[in-house]
Amino acid sequence: MKVIKSVEKMQSFSESLRLQGERIAFVPTMGYFHEGHLCLMKEAKKMADCVVVSIYVNPSQFGPKEDFSKYPRDLERDLKMAESVGVDVIFYPPDKEMYPAGYQTYVDVEEVTQNLCGMSRPGHFRGVTTVCNKLFNIVKPHIAIFGKKDFQQYISIKRMVDDLNLDLQIIGFPTVREADGPAMSSRNKYLKKNERPSALTLFRALKLAQKLYSNGEKKSSVIIKEVEKLIKKVPYTEIDYIKICSTETLRDVDKVKNQTVMALAVKVGTTRLIDNHVFGDKLEI
Ligand code: PAJ
Repeated sequence: MKVIKSVEKMQSFSESLRLQGERIAFVPTMGYFHEGHLCLMKEAKKMADCVVVSIYVNPSQFGPKEDFSKYPRDLERDLKMAESVGVDVIFYPPDKEMYPAGYQTYVDVEEVTQNLCGMSRPGHFRGVTTVCNKLFNIVKPHIAIFGKKDFQQYISIKRMVDDLNLDLQIIGFPTVREADGPAMSSRNKYLKKNERPSALTLFRALKLAQKLYSNGEKKSSVIIKEVEKLIKKVPYTEIDYIKICSTETLRDVDKVKNQTVMALAVKVGTTRLIDNHVFGDKLEI
């Protein structure tokens, strides 16, 4: 497995692969890998000749009061894990290559970034779409794979790729869960031992929503109320949002149908967790 740190070297490596007719699949990450990340890499391996994974904790997507400096990092462990699933190249750029002095260009996807996490994390998606656009120009992939765990991120990236005619395909990968339900996340590491049971609530809430829907309830407000009741009973939790939205526009909808999404953000202790479920899809561990 190759580790490339410079933008120029990454670009010329990708260019040479393309000239040889090889297909490049790309998995952008912020590192501190878990099984969710590895599943994306394994999927990428099936789809291309060369798998490139970036590890870059992107400062522009963290708010001033967010966890940029304490975001977990462990490069040595990440390299071993990536190698074990057959990743070909790790792109690991320093900040000064990604945002050199004088940097001033950003990509703003306007509508789908407004609701949900866009409300509590202003500027977050601007940072995400900007860094992904830059990474796409550096890695030059044919395919990039994103987890549907970060549903709004996935939709925003697809929107950007369509709107800006970027020449690559975006693939969404289903959420990978722990054995007892919670979505795998690098931030699960922040949970204290006594808070861990409360983190199961998001998955339970999504299950409850799907059950109500399957039993015939179609009103978003009713489903949201029941989910809210469930979460409020659980210690250490504080609801940021519980919403039911169109999967296309990510605007709130009054009526639930297949292909609307329930999205949750809940603080457990000081750790903010997100999860979602598209009604009608499988919700299994
Ligand atoms: P990060 O949180 O490291 O996630 C990297 C990729 O792994 C994202 O596409 C994310 O949706 C996916 N992922 C994380 N947990 C997952 C799970 N439990 N199941 C399935 N996929 C999962 O998301 C980012 O980094 C950054 O915002 C990034 C896109 C790299 C831009 O900086």
